[in-house]
Amino acid sequence: MTTVDDYGFYKAMCEKALEAYPFEGAPETSSKAMRYSLLAGGKRLRGVLALGGCVSAGGRAEDALPAACAAEMIHAYSLIHDDLPAMDNDTLRRGKPTSHVVFGEAQAILAGDGLLTEAFVCLSSIPDPVTASACVRCLAEAAGSAGMVGGQVMDMEKPSGAGAEWLREMERRKTGCLIRAAVEMGMICAGADGDMIRRGREYGAHLGAAFQAVDDILDVTGDEKNMGKSLGKDRDENKLTAVTLFGLDGAADAARRETALALEALSGLGPEADFLRRTAEMMLKRVN
Ligand code: IPE
Ligand code: IPE
Ligand code: MG
Ligand code: MG
Ligand code: MG
Repeated sequence: MTTVDDYGFYKAMCEKALEAYPFEGAPETSSKAMRYSLLAGGKRLRGVLALGGCVSAGGRAEDALPAACAAEMIHAYSLIHDDLPAMDNDTLRRGKPTSHVVFGEAQAILAGDGLLTEAFVCLSSIPDPVTASACVRCLAEAAGSAGMVGGQVMDMEKPSGAGAEWLREMERRKTGCLIRAAVEMGMICAGADGDMIRRGREYGAHLGAAFQAVDDILDVTGDEKNMGKSLGKDRDENKLTAVTLFGLDGAADAARRETALALEALSGLGPEADFLRRTAEMMLKRVN
């Protein structure tokens, strides 16, 4: 049974689990730097999608908590590295100075490395070994060179002549893969069948594409205080984004189109998928 405020409920669940995460054996500097970024807030979309994905597939939200925390750890690591001077060179994230500003570049890189690795320690706490290994595979593929890292590589390279096709692939990898993996892991934790997982994957991939187009729009139209990060950076850094390629209206069209495709992937499912539907609509409303 889902309610209107289940996003807030799942977000709080995720937050609580992340706060309690022990980072066993880490030196103090390391756990301080990892916790600084991990617990700095954020929408917790990936964690929420893991929990909501699990419930939508008939499971209990708490069974997907390791998957939710692992997805948020990978996300936090990706943000720390994304903000480094060698990448997007940002000084503000989640309303606070970025990791490298506070801890220095070396410790920021290591905090990212630590979170990336810890995500898999966290997944290994899933009691059923088959479920645990399916989640490890899902997250590793989504986060690695075939997924998020590969997308960040493309983002940094931006070959001359890159167009719509290139942009779609870059955004699919850098943002879509992790969002898709969060939904998928949630469903895996619920013991979902192949058809459900296929729908979840498709939903997540389209939601991820819509989400990045929205992020590209908000980089131009958003409010820095509200967003908690420096805006206008895509133009300053000469990035290829949905906005620089299609304009603001074109990017909004792309976000709407991808959201519609995400919803379509859930057609045929009943009210159990309403949470996923509402979440996709809510993310689009950030710009509509
Ligand atoms: C920012 O992600 C990076 C992108 C993939 C666009 P979010 O907008 O989900 O960041 P938080 O987690 O809310 O801080
Ligand atoms: C980042 O995309 C995607 C990641 C894998 C971190 P952006 O560079 O657009 O994210 P923001 O705008 O800095 O949050
Ligand atoms: Mg970037
Ligand atoms: Mg960035
Ligand atoms: Mg951005």
